[in-house]
Amino acid sequence: MPDLIESEAQLDALLASPSERLIEFMRQLDGDLMILGIAGKMGVSLGQLAVAAIKKAGARKSVYGVARFSNPDARERLEASGVRSIQCDLLDRTAVADLPKTPNVLFMAGRKFGTGGDEPLTWAMNTLVPANVAEHFRDSSIVAFSTGCVYPLAAPHRLPDEQTSPDPIGEYAQSCLGRERMFQYGSQRWGTPVCLYRLNYAIDLRYGVLHDIATKIWHGQPIDNSAPAFNIIWQGDANQQALLCLGHCSSPANMLNITGPETLHTETVAKQFGELLDKPVRFTSTPEGGCYLSDSSRATNLFGPPSVDAEQLIRWQAHWIKTGGRSLGKPTHFEVNDGAY
Ligand SMILES: NC(=O)c1ccc[n+]([C@@H]2O[C@H](COP(=O)([O-])OP(=O)(O)OC[C@H]3O[C@@H](n4cnc5c(N)ncnc54)[C@H](OP(=O)(O)O)[C@@H]3O)[C@@H](O)[C@H]2O)c1
Repeated sequence: MPDLIESEAQLDALLASPSERLIEFMRQLDGDLMILGIAGKMGVSLGQLAVAAIKKAGARKSVYGVARFSNPDARERLEASGVRSIQCDLLDRTAVADLPKTPNVLFMAGRKFGTGGDEPLTWAMNTLVPANVAEHFRDSSIVAFSTGCVYPLAAPHRLPDEQTSPDPIGEYAQSCLGRERMFQYGSQRWGTPVCLYRLNYAIDLRYGVLHDIATKIWHGQPIDNSAPAFNIIWQGDANQQALLCLGHCSSPANMLNITGPETLHTETVAKQFGELLDKPVRFTSTPEGGCYLSDSSRATNLFGPPSVDAEQLIRWQAHWIKTGGRSLGKPTHFEVNDGAY
């Protein structure tokens, strides 16, 4: 891993660089892949990683990428890297029924921000779409992206693991549990192998919790420390693990918490950024209450520790902000702990 990341080209190349393990996995995997909801913050890099791993494995399989492609640039980048794009609104059941049936499916479509004021659309995206997909792809293996928000709020010394009962707060998180339930139902009814991939905060430098904290400090804005702690994972590792989860789908559905092993404290991280960026740090509140955290020991046992640790991510992020690295302008709102998005 490089000491620092100097350009977007270097960042993209790193995100699309498969591990030996992933290359070997692609060599063994039967059949084509389809990534549903590919055009977002994670999907483009996931598609590019999958294609790179298949090429290095010398395997012959296609990666299809499905979205509405509201941003045509994402489609161009995917096609240029070898992903076969298909435009489809997954809310349209008849359009879903026309999608080619691939043996391997990664489901990433979802809706979070804007839930307050348009709850019905969030519920449709997060439950109706999974129902359409679970039915159409009943004979595939499905890795369904989910979120650590399905758990109750936690204290930093007691992290929810996969045995912890879900207790989602607010309609967004409740609809995410609904998404999981649709895939679990499909898995029960048709025997579909499924893995629920419960992610807490991917870091890609252009967005993410570290990006949000560092950007505020760089611009002299105070940090909202209502959420006292968080977990993160390098997006390259999150994507590698998502593809490897195709080997851990089962009926009834498996579930895995996906994040890094470190629990980071908001105030400590903010002070680290203050030093790295040589800026003063201010906070808007006192940390209290719980926050979204999860115990990823099961995933670490299966896949090994992430290839980039939190300290390195913090150094990369500070340098990215200091040198004017691009931002997607999509805040995570990690500080929200009342479920209102
Ligand atoms: N990024 C994180 O740190 C994080 C953390 C926890 C959980 N997750 C979960 O991981 C998944 C992927 O995350 P992300 O950050 O990449 O999400 P994202 O940026 O919101 O991307 C969502 C994707 O879904 C597509 N989409 C939305 N509505 C659609 C529709 N009706 N038909 C077809 N495609 C549709 C969007 O593209 P178009 O608009 O072009 O259709 C986009 O490609 C999400 O489900 C999210 O809940 C992510």
